[in-house]
Amino acid sequence: MKIAVSGFGTVGQGVAEVLLRRRDFLTGRYGEMPQIVLAMDSRTYAADPEGLDLQALIDRKKETGSVGKTGYSDSAELLSRTDYDMLIEVTPTDIKTGGAGLKNITRALESGKDVITVNKGPLALRFCELIGLARKNGCKFRFEGTVGGAMPIINLCHENLVGEHIRSIRGIFNGTCNYILSKMDKGQPYEQALKEAQQLGYAETDPTNDVEGYDTAAKVTILANSVFHKKVTVNDVKITGISKITAEAVAQAASHNMVIRLIGEVSETKLEVSPRLIPVGHPLSISGTLNIAQIEADLAGPITITGRGAGKIETASAILSDLIAILDERRGHA
Ligand code: HSE
Repeated sequence: MKIAVSGFGTVGQGVAEVLLRRRDFLTGRYGEMPQIVLAMDSRTYAADPEGLDLQALIDRKKETGSVGKTGYSDSAELLSRTDYDMLIEVTPTDIKTGGAGLKNITRALESGKDVITVNKGPLALRFCELIGLARKNGCKFRFEGTVGGAMPIINLCHENLVGEHIRSIRGIFNGTCNYILSKMDKGQPYEQALKEAQQLGYAETDPTNDVEGYDTAAKVTILANSVFHKKVTVNDVKITGISKITAEAVAQAASHNMVIRLIGEVSETKLEVSPRLIPVGHPLSISGTLNIAQIEADLAGPITITGRGAGKIETASAILSDLIAILDERRGHA
């Protein structure tokens, strides 16, 4: 399997690290290692048809801030010139236009390549189109890491819960907002908590997308399309963020033994992101940067999952699970 990686930043380095850490497992399972033949960051690229040296790639990126010495002008065009089987698309999310990620994924699917992405923008805007393109061209297209990072949710619904009628999914899908709200519970001002969340590396490139609820809305949109088979975009979500939540509102909630949490909800009739009052001790009252989701299934009843919604290695773990699923399908593994 020859892999091209677009957006070789923090998550891209995580992917390379995870491949190195799972070298024995992957070689044992498939008889050979998947090779990264092309790595692009925002300005430069490195390519080797035999497979790049992953440790050297990680070291070079850390030391110089670039993956290679050669610049490029158009990532989709560079993909077209490369011999690869799968694109791992990890450029930063652009919720307004889909950005380079949308172009890269479209180009890869049009060329019959499998795609794994953790980029929410393309799916929040063009889910149906991209799935249609993948089907038409016989491509595998997986995106577990777009919702909840390392917390398994999409593949859980598609695979383990495939026989269920899923009634609703409610959850906390944005670590930045949850961190801010948890700090406000302890009396910390909003602005200071936001700054700390940014320092932790959780916030989006533009943290407005976190605090105004757009990031959660993108994730809820992806769940609505992939689990509920809705044909919706992020523009269909009713969104209220947390930027107007005052210290007084948090204190008032606390006086009733409640906390305020930003909840994303999707069901047959609802597609909403809003701050809600949650009783202290309820699973959705969690503090810190964790994500959590409650799935209501008709046979199984309620299922609660939680995990790290972001992070270099954590996000790469979701990509690894998608990679293994695709390799298993392609190679007819049991
Ligand atoms: N900005 C997101 C968060 C990162 O705070 O959870 C993961 O999508």
